[in-house]
Amino acid sequence: MTRFRAPADAWSRRDFMRNGFGSVALLCTVATPGALRGKSEVTSAALRKQSRSPFEPFQRDLPRLPQLLPTTSSRARETYEIAIREGMAEILPGFQTPIYGYEGIYPAPLIRARKGHEVVVRQKNTLPFETNVHLHGGFVPAQFDGHPMDVIPAGGTFDYHYPNDQDAAPLWYHDHAHGRTSRTLYYGLVGMYILHDDLETDLGLPQGEYDVPIVLADHAFNKDGSLRYEENVDLGFRGDTLLVNGAVSPRMTVQRRKYRFRILNGSNARSYALKLGNGRPMLQIAGDGGLLSRPVTRTKIPFHPAERIELVIDFSAYGPGEELVLSNADGLGGTVPILRFDVEGGRTSEDFTVPSRMRQLERLPTANARRTWNLSLGSAAWQINGLSWDPNRIDVRPRRGSTEIWTFVNKSERVHPMHLHGFLFRVLERSSAPVELADRSGWKDTIGVLPNETATVLAWFAPYGGKYVFHCHSLEHADKAMMLQMEIV
Ligand code: C2O
Ligand code: CU
Ligand code: CU
Repeated sequence: MTRFRAPADAWSRRDFMRNGFGSVALLCTVATPGALRGKSEVTSAALRKQSRSPFEPFQRDLPRLPQLLPTTSSRARETYEIAIREGMAEILPGFQTPIYGYEGIYPAPLIRARKGHEVVVRQKNTLPFETNVHLHGGFVPAQFDGHPMDVIPAGGTFDYHYPNDQDAAPLWYHDHAHGRTSRTLYYGLVGMYILHDDLETDLGLPQGEYDVPIVLADHAFNKDGSLRYEENVDLGFRGDTLLVNGAVSPRMTVQRRKYRFRILNGSNARSYALKLGNGRPMLQIAGDGGLLSRPVTRTKIPFHPAERIELVIDFSAYGPGEELVLSNADGLGGTVPILRFDVEGGRTSEDFTVPSRMRQLERLPTANARRTWNLSLGSAAWQINGLSWDPNRIDVRPRRGSTEIWTFVNKSERVHPMHLHGFLFRVLERSSAPVELADRSGWKDTIGVLPNETATVLAWFAPYGGKYVFHCHSLEHADKAMMLQMEIV
């Protein structure tokens, strides 16, 4: 049974409901949707060139993420049920694309939660291999974090309890079973989980249809419409086509008013530089860990895998009929256009302005340790301090409730988006340039450490104790070895 609240302008989800792939998955432990197994994943040379997407941008309207409805709801708690399964997505009109999906859809249904109200998600793994679910950016007790070794066996079920005891933030959920995430996320196990709170609500930011969650990722396709994945353990996967909420670089009709966009970089390994028109202002109001202390006007926003950026864009500054493109200034060909806004005629009266102070950032205890993490290529894989992932080893034991200064030293030519599970940090310093105002004005859980850069953060190991991981969020790096284990004691 599927319980979605379809957004008013949702495109048809009929096909997801109709097509089941349930039984095809025999004896297969490789994370590739059933319909793709045994098929060559390589096609013409033209398709391989990342600068040559075979698709025209702006042909479809932006799909809105369907919101998952709770199975039960009380004053204190909401429960949801999700089946992790194979499904079909209509990404390219006229084609059915086999995917893995939460509830069989890509991107996954959106979960909206409220601070102080527990959410329990019962995840049923109907795939023929182990999976699990990690709530990225969440303060989650260790047993519910989706640690890469805590997996749901094929056919099994697990109840994840999320206390939602943290400030409003754009969180997301994804598979984290070790060694496979570059495939399982690529094939669709990615969803948004938006946590609201009263402070955020009181600011009066755009809501409802004007609050637009967006999952951005680069992909590639075979000629039959199936997703094409080619492993590249050094660079990570790079696609030639951008999918935005599961549509190729779509368009969105907007009224002449303010909208809130919550964008997730759900790509395996691609970094972007977000740009509006030819450098029009975007007001960033939040990052990974929620609202910034003040909104920050930006014209170009570096955006690394697993990061989230929230923007308020005021379309009343544009004329009726104007077309405005959100693009990737670091892209080529098909990886440039992200989303085109088509400004409607008429006028909307709106007297809302984004408050100049949004939030007070917590005072932190002074750091009681300093640690350095060298990011480098070992003989066979990317590593941290020369170490490869070993679940039987604890690499660091921060004290619960303490803060520590962590320095990531990247002497390579690759970006390493470093991420801590279960905790947030503040960015203190970067060797490449002064820390962007927006990154100094809020909490983060992932930092893109640039080639030959040293970046320093102050991490706060609260509220929970236990075993968590930290890793590079270039999924091909993490899958091989670029992940260590911490125990908060
Ligand atoms: Cu998106 Cu280990 O995290
Ligand atoms: Cu995480
Ligand atoms: Cu990396």
